[in-house]
Amino acid sequence: MNKVIAIANQKGGVGKTTTAVNLAASLAATKRSVLLIDLDPQGNATTAAGITEESPNTLYDVFAKDATINEAIYQASSGYHITPGGADLLALEVEIRNQNKQQFLSQTLSNIDQGFDYTIIDTPPTLNQLTIEALFAASGTLIPLQCEYYSLEGVSGLIDTIQTLSNKNLSSNRVLGIIRTMVDMRNNLAKEVSEELEKHFASVLFNTIIPRNVKLAEAPSHGVAALQYMPNSYGAKAYLALAGELIRKVEHV
Ligand SMILES: Nc1ncnc2c1ncn2[C@@H]1O[C@H](COP(=O)(O)OP(=O)(O)OP(=O)(O)O)[C@@H](O)[C@H]1O
Ligand SMILES: [Mg+2]
Repeated sequence: MNKVIAIANQKGGVGKTTTAVNLAASLAATKRSVLLIDLDPQGNATTAAGITEESPNTLYDVFAKDATINEAIYQASSGYHITPGGADLLALEVEIRNQNKQQFLSQTLSNIDQGFDYTIIDTPPTLNQLTIEALFAASGTLIPLQCEYYSLEGVSGLIDTIQTLSNKNLSSNRVLGIIRTMVDMRNNLAKEVSEELEKHFASVLFNTIIPRNVKLAEAPSHGVAALQYMPNSYGAKAYLALAGELIRKVEHV
């Protein structure tokens, strides 16, 4: 069964794209078939996936009806598939609202011919229509969080939105987990915030902690995930562990 998972946090630079890309590669390494959807006009996940086409089809091409979703799925370098993102998603955001085509993404996902075990959606750092589309379509949301003061700001808004959508029976989305990213345990503040999270979010906090690791920051410029770039790095190993924890959570193995 296809598990559709949104990666969201309206705070910028918290590790959403790094998590989306490396989780996709790690799940693919465990022989799951994975589709990564880049729903961010910044297109960072698309670059990180090693997509070299000049102007690949994005969801905007699918929306504007000159491409099918199956024509907007490309093989990424690290064992998964990707539907690219980019600047034309800005137009998609506006047109979904103007044309009242909410839930476009949910409908589009049902037209995919190839069966995927996981669909991971990378979202932009705002709660705009693109992010809402992802929250509609997903059965679970992962929230990457940096262990800093103010890191929780905005997260309650996101959790409320997910709750509202599911209360109105618009989606079956629930918060699958909070992931601590870019953690440096030598930093006392990170340790404190991490412990606070353990106290207050015990039920949804992932045990796997993603360390700050330069290999995770370098890999995208090579168009691959850390697992391909430096398989023995702490970063690559942490995302493999995260994939394992996610699999145990959602596949009940
Ligand atoms: N664990 C990590 N260790 C070191 N660097 C990291 C780590 N995670 C992310 N980075 C770097 O931090 C920056 C922000 O990460 P990323 O792009 O994944 O965040 P984001 O939440 O997707 O940002 P945006 O909100 O702009 O989409 C990037 O330069 C990335 O390479
Ligand atoms: Mg991003």
